Amino acid sequence: MRVTIYEVGPRDGLQNESTVVPVDVKREFIGRLAAAGLTTIETTSFVHPKWVPQLADAEELLDSLSRVPGVSYPVLVPNERGLDRALERGVRDIAIFASATDTFARANLNRTLESQFEMFEPVVARALDHGMKVRAYVSMCFADPWEGPVAPAQVVEVGRHLLDLGCYELSLGDTIGVGTPAHVTALLEAFQDARTDVAQLAVHFHDTYGQALANTLTALRMGVTTFDSSAGGIGGCPFAKSATGNLATEDLVWMLDGLGIETGVDVCELASTSLWLAGKLGRPSPSRVVQALAKE
Ligand code: HMG
Ligand code: MG
Repeated sequence: MRVTIYEVGPRDGLQNESTVVPVDVKREFIGRLAAAGLTTIETTSFVHPKWVPQLADAEELLDSLSRVPGVSYPVLVPNERGLDRALERGVRDIAIFASATDTFARANLNRTLESQFEMFEPVVARALDHGMKVRAYVSMCFADPWEGPVAPAQVVEVGRHLLDLGCYELSLGDTIGVGTPAHVTALLEAFQDARTDVAQLAVHFHDTYGQALANTLTALRMGVTTFDSSAGGIGGCPFAKSATGNLATEDLVWMLDGLGIETGVDVCELASTSLWLAGKLGRPSPSRVVQALAKE
């Protein structure tokens, strides 16, 4: 069995840093991720530079990035202006990002729950016309800091809408990292009941409450084969209070290696990349596997 790791460190990780990481560090980080065996590396975002100044160098980064054959470098795109920027740079893979709740749609996209779809529809249609692959995220799939627990039916409604636009995959985000395995099971069952092919589902767990790996294993046992994670466990969302880092890619790979599931990723090489990045960021990686390997 082989699974896909969708690495989000350069985007989800670096968007939440208090300082702007220099473009040459980002470039080297992405190069090292590919060298460690990652084949999908979410690189940056074409969002408003005032909203996320940490990724305002998206054009400069893409212009100077050396791409490894066989590796894809998707970017986040919220709207048509973002799509224009992606097209100008020859980007082939994009990801739109929706919210399951109204409050977070307003906080993150300046749109309501309903009007976010008006923003995404022309983006997906034009991107597909240009032969791009379009992934869709849904944030706040488990709970929202303002609205509390989110019902699976509400997530399914948003998710189905995005798949019906023509997105090839839905990444179910626990943006604030409060979900537990029983809730993961309930959410995946709700998608099954809505006749969604599990091959179209990915999971995106933040690790705020230390549940990300347990949640990932639960999803794996239910047939999910695409997992989002960030090298070293960096990450978070500047517009969701209490969001901390993603599931660390090293923790994920360590578990998958133990299960005999192929990833193509060299965990030692990846951990040394995360230690190098932690030095640049000025704080240690929260990943237990990175910490353990550093002592060996
Ligand atoms: P808005 O203010 O409503 O934008 O922001 P607008 O459409 O009203 O346009 C206002 C001005 O911004 C215009 O300029 C546009 O051209 C410009 P003017 O004509 O006034 O000079 N503009 C742009 N410029 C550059 N690039 C763009 C762009 N769009 C408009 N793309 C917008 C709406 C969506 C742009 C804004 O809310 C935004 O940028 N949000 C991004 C938020 C974000 O990046 N959040 C983090 C990523 S999501 C996440 O982390 C969760 C995830 O990891 C999953 C999980 O964990 O759950 C994915
Ligand atoms: Mg995230």
